[in-house]
Amino acid sequence: MENIVSLGLENVVVAQTDLSLVDGQNGLLVYRNHWARDLALHHTFEEVAHLLWYGHLPDQAELAALQEKLSAQRELPAYVKTAIDAIPHDVDMMSALRTGLSLLGGPEFAAWPPTLGQVISLTAKVPTLVAYRYARIAGHAPIAPRTDLGHTANYLYMLKGEEPLAAHVRALDAYLILTQEHGLNASTFAGRVVASTRSDLISSITAALGALKGPLHGGAPSEVTEMIEAIGSKENAEPWMRSRLEAGDRLMGFGHRVYRTYDPRAKALSIIANELAGDDPWFELATHVEAVGLRLLQEFKPNRPLNTNVEFYAAAVMRAIGLPDSLFTPSFAVSRTVGWCAHILEAAAGRIIRPQSTYTGQMPE
Ligand code: ACO
Repeated sequence: MENIVSLGLENVVVAQTDLSLVDGQNGLLVYRNHWARDLALHHTFEEVAHLLWYGHLPDQAELAALQEKLSAQRELPAYVKTAIDAIPHDVDMMSALRTGLSLLGGPEFAAWPPTLGQVISLTAKVPTLVAYRYARIAGHAPIAPRTDLGHTANYLYMLKGEEPLAAHVRALDAYLILTQEHGLNASTFAGRVVASTRSDLISSITAALGALKGPLHGGAPSEVTEMIEAIGSKENAEPWMRSRLEAGDRLMGFGHRVYRTYDPRAKALSIIANELAGDDPWFELATHVEAVGLRLLQEFKPNRPLNTNVEFYAAAVMRAIGLPDSLFTPSFAVSRTVGWCAHILEAAAGRIIRPQSTYTGQMPE
């Protein structure tokens, strides 16, 4: 059989999934027969996680059962906290999170194939791990999780040490729902590759997290705020971005492998960010930077429609609710853990993923 070469695996289909449809031509995102945008507006983190893991939105009893299981498993094992405490403070949040997650792989997570029980326990602990490490770096005593708060409210509570504003919980919940799942993005693919070898859930999730960290994927939002801060003023937007594009650099928060039109998650988040930001001059500058960026990308890459992606407005929403840059990508991990787990459960029943490479080196004599 002839090999098909597709660098970056563009347009290659390697899985069938019931979880989501990413329609890049029309800018549509579906999670199991529901528009992701509607889920973000009208449902909670736990309801959408139930949809992805169990195949349907929960009734009241099912929701209560899932909430109880998640809230009961938020605490970290003591040995994980000790290990996190030993990590020097100049090690970045995502590296510490990767280490902490890999340490969760005790006997509870050893069973194959992965179970929904493992998935729930892991998902419950990711926000606690992020908040624990964040507190340690900030020099605060870590705040223990509460069992009376929802997943998102408890995450914000552990980060801020106070009961979060309802508007902030809603905004963060919408962001976390919109980023729970997104087809075979790089991190989900990495997780599925590991799961396809019949390795355990934690190994698969650790691989996915490593992929998410990269600035071309989940590492982009903090680079969006850095870009906007470096630009500093509306007048500087065009010269700054033009010089980057002339140097062959990428503008963060723009472009996507699949979307050939506006990323529907960015569209939904722009509305939320707009409501939260009020007359914040940073947000005004950000929308100006977006408009100039889109115009320049059209000029520099006329053959490839490059639009604003989810990371641009993820940065704006998280900034508006008072989360610092260091928490942007870890917060993305809090949500995407749900989709990674759903894919890993699917991939566990599939064939090992093993593509090929073309040898471009020399042959021995
Ligand atoms: N700024 C400048 N140029 C870009 C950008 C950008 N943001 N995105 C793509 N391009 C260029 C590419 O360099 C390429 O140029 P070339 O033809 O001269 O080589 C051309 O546009 C086409 O690129 P694509 O094939 O569309 O890009 P690809 O699918 O390989 O990469 C990616 C997609 C990684 C998202 C890219 O658009 C990018 O680097 N964007 C900036 C980082 C970012 O915001 N990432 C977050 C993505 S969303 C997410 O992961 C949750």
